[in-house]
Amino acid sequence: MDEKDIFILRKLYENKYISGEELASSLNISRMAINKRIKSLKALGYKIESARKKGYELSDKDIIRIWEMKDYIQSSNLFKEFIYLDEVDSTNTYVKQNQQHLESSTVVYAERQTQGRGRLSRRWVDLEKGIKMSILLKLLLLDLEKIVPLTLFTGLVINRVLRKYGVNSFIKWSNDIYLNGKKVCGILCELSGEVEGFGSIIIGIGINVNAKSIPDEIKDIATSLKAETSQDFDRTRLIIDILKEFEKEFPNFETYGFSHFRDEYKNFCINLGKEILVNGQKMLCMDIGENGELVCEKDGKIVEISSGEVTIRF
Ligand code: BTN
Repeated sequence: MDEKDIFILRKLYENKYISGEELASSLNISRMAINKRIKSLKALGYKIESARKKGYELSDKDIIRIWEMKDYIQSSNLFKEFIYLDEVDSTNTYVKQNQQHLESSTVVYAERQTQGRGRLSRRWVDLEKGIKMSILLKLLLLDLEKIVPLTLFTGLVINRVLRKYGVNSFIKWSNDIYLNGKKVCGILCELSGEVEGFGSIIIGIGINVNAKSIPDEIKDIATSLKAETSQDFDRTRLIIDILKEFEKEFPNFETYGFSHFRDEYKNFCINLGKEILVNGQKMLCMDIGENGELVCEKDGKIVEISSGEVTIRF
């Protein structure tokens, strides 16, 4: 998708109808060239209808407003670049493969993922009208031990934004977001490569937003914001609000670490006080530690967990 396509999408989004002539003259290209571009936008999944004498109409406006994303990134003090992909295997893999040329604090968004990855080598099922994005942060190697707390911090930021939208979401340790007992958001943080004292952290975020139905294979454990609330969410707004909140709180995270956010995290963490299974072993979840570790009791002993598979018995 190039600048001209983005211009066409913007005009379609902002007007009920827009004529081919008007688009052609604004872009200084032929009517034929507009036809061709409209055809390829349709092939990418944009629902564009043509009405005689009126022009083109975008009949489904639930799209990512790339122009708005770019404006926000330009005004941001943290984020440097926004890359929009129609389809990719996985945004985390894309960032990993291109990290040498990407600036720190680049955000990569994909409308479709063909091989989305989850934690513990699982698959991330691609639901329509979701959010799939990765943030690349190049950090001093010294800071890389912050990766676990950083994933918790990211989960907390997303939970905070969802709650501002009136969504009754909770955090399941370490960083899954749950709504009505099912998962709506997962985060995959990966450490990747090191160059001259810097290492890359890739924060992959998947949120099930406006999907109406959930595939059978995951419907017992996963849901979407729309399926639970019957509301449509403005995905562009949601991404920008999440990035803004991340940007606002990141300096506090860098200065004070996870402990600055611990109380809020504990407030919304659904594991606390519950009997949980950690890698198959039964334990009682007692607390969240200063660095975000899970503090549990097993057979009268205190055990600290900083990674692994945790199942809650609701
Ligand atoms: C999990 O809960 O297991 C983590 C899921 C993370 C999914 C996101 S979607 C965007 C990014 N790209 C991926 O391949 N995975 C993450």
